[in-house]
Amino acid sequence: MICIRKHTIIDQHYLLFIHDDKICIGKNILNPKYVLPINLQTKLEWTFDKEKSQFQGFIIEWNNQKKQFHMSDQNCQELKSQIDGRILYNEINSQYYPIQIVGEGTFGKVIKVVSLIDRKEYACKVMKLDKKFSKNDIIYELMTMQSLNHENIIKIKEVYSSKSHFFIIMEYCRGGTLREQLAYRTLNQDQIVMIMKQILNAIIYMNSRGFIHRDIKPDNILLREQNDLSSILVCDFGFAAKVEDIVTKHPNCGTPGYMAPEVIKFDQTNPYNEQCDVFSCGSLLYSILTGYNLEMQSEESEIYNIEAQVYEEKQFTSINNQFKNILLKMLEPSPNQRITAKDAQKYFENFDLFLMEEMNSLDVIQKLKHISINKNNCHQF
Ligand SMILES: Nc1ncnc2c1ncn2[C@@H]1O[C@H](COP(=O)(O)OP(=O)(O)O)[C@@H](O)[C@H]1O
Ligand SMILES: [Mg+2]
Repeated sequence: MICIRKHTIIDQHYLLFIHDDKICIGKNILNPKYVLPINLQTKLEWTFDKEKSQFQGFIIEWNNQKKQFHMSDQNCQELKSQIDGRILYNEINSQYYPIQIVGEGTFGKVIKVVSLIDRKEYACKVMKLDKKFSKNDIIYELMTMQSLNHENIIKIKEVYSSKSHFFIIMEYCRGGTLREQLAYRTLNQDQIVMIMKQILNAIIYMNSRGFIHRDIKPDNILLREQNDLSSILVCDFGFAAKVEDIVTKHPNCGTPGYMAPEVIKFDQTNPYNEQCDVFSCGSLLYSILTGYNLEMQSEESEIYNIEAQVYEEKQFTSINNQFKNILLKMLEPSPNQRITAKDAQKYFENFDLFLMEEMNSLDVIQKLKHISINKNNCHQF
């Protein structure tokens, strides 16, 4: 690629190429004048002509000075496609137009935006840097997302930053969250199995790459299209961590109501592992089957007590045996005895083949009764 630096007397033509995860700009390949590592510490600003809808080049910071380069629209797009999401861009307002807030989570807002480049809609997660949420936390979340490439996991398109904020551009999921779906309709067996298979797929993939999600719950499950449960995406990697980092990365994190007992009563001498995601999936399944928002319940009472919920929940008696059976396996308090994500996946794959003996609801209730989790304490009776 050729880029040009305009000077008053003579313009300099440079070669631009990517080598070893670095953008290199110079007169020759062997000794480039400017070398920019492609990572989330490096900033680049695109110059874009809004009227023509064309890129004109880019600006970088070099030795505390801004250096502007001109480049053809085609070359800019080519470069962009190679570094999108891997480097920080400046000036989100020059590329996106805000439409409306579509979600608000623990760490900030998610806004529907329209790209001035391709006119398509995207979601933009806005994260404010503050004491609660440091730059390192955000970079960790971004690097986690960068490492994951799976059909049921949301991907980063681009990352913008300003002095006080980070902006993550992602695919916009028209269908909203699973929480929103559960609020207005009851799902049938096939739909529930379809959802569980996709979430478990994402978790198995994450675990295989050494990551734990730690915040699986209906608000963090997105539907690509309206009312379409065949294409769902796990989002929100704010609490996700590499297994070896959990001790240093907020070991007690998660959402009360969906947190596994071993996360709540975190023990430094015996750190938990990826099995905690299976428990959260079990809570999510419970939430789908009964319509209960476990998060709300636990927020009110600071206690997650399945015993109380089951007794209150008349609907539970009408739940099919296969679901009751897997629910018990996923909500097993001891992580070593809890079913693994892979085995749970197999269970849902063969859901129709399992002809369960009639399970007495009272028996199930008796078994679930053994799980009672207090936010500050966890015990098995
Ligand atoms: N790609 C997306 N498309 C549509 N809505 C989204 C998207 N990402 C997030 N949201 C909405 O924003 C909410 C918060 O996003 P999330 O990543 O979970 O942030 P937080 O870490 O603050 O919980 C989600 O629960 C959902 O309602
Ligand atoms: Mg969230």
